[in-house]
Amino acid sequence: PLYKQMFGLSDLEERIRKRYGLKQVIVVPGDSDSLPHTKRELGLAGCAVLRKYMEKDDVVAITGGTTLAQVANQLTTQTPLKGNWFVPARGGLGESLDYQANTLASTMAKRTGAQYRLLHVPDHLGEEAYTTLMQEPNVREIVEVIRSARIVVHGIGDAMVMARRRRVDGSFIEALKAEGAHAEAFGYYFDRNGAVVHRMPTIGLRLEDIMATEVVIAIAGGSSKAEAIAAIMRFGRDDVLVTDEGAALGIVAQL
Ligand code: G3H
Repeated sequence: PLYKQMFGLSDLEERIRKRYGLKQVIVVPGDSDSLPHTKRELGLAGCAVLRKYMEKDDVVAITGGTTLAQVANQLTTQTPLKGNWFVPARGGLGESLDYQANTLASTMAKRTGAQYRLLHVPDHLGEEAYTTLMQEPNVREIVEVIRSARIVVHGIGDAMVMARRRRVDGSFIEALKAEGAHAEAFGYYFDRNGAVVHRMPTIGLRLEDIMATEVVIAIAGGSSKAEAIAAIMRFGRDDVLVTDEGAALGIVAQL
């Protein structure tokens, strides 16, 4: 593409990094909307970043999604990560089993010789069910591990795409639209400016836990996600963004 020839991917990385005050931005060539190969590259770049930031005995919380599945299915290490834990950031979000956070956490652990814990609870819970479940000692124990994560790795989705994929009801979709929901990440919905427009009581990582996490890594690409990624960058909690050229060009166009 012309832009790449003129400025190079590193220029795109630097512009996005500076604008959003990130520690690191990685842009892989291509657009994962049209090229499955690019999504795999995004996953591989995500693996490298995760290895770079992981330390001994770290707890890593991960979300679900097809992009994170590309990280999980390609993650390797030279030496087994015996003291590390992979945990799902939240409960089931109505996603297909192949790319639920639980599945990805166990895949990552198995591929790297690390430990994992699973959270077998639905994410959409009423107050009463939430209170009851949180009284269960084994649920509490795993939730404490999740909330102690030093690293969070998450995907980013377009709000409407994610709401439909999770089969939420029509009135919820209308409410999200009315609130101007643009992006979804870690189970929360955000407007164009990165303000949270929807949150719910959750078993797992809450926004306040994410605010307190040491390293937050976003992995998302595809030109169709440019606005959603920009919204999450405006929310401003990420340290590292791994994306692709298709999304990066769209993000830079909004700067
Ligand atoms: O939170 C966002 C979604 O998990 C992203 O899913 O990687 O399948 O687009 P995706």
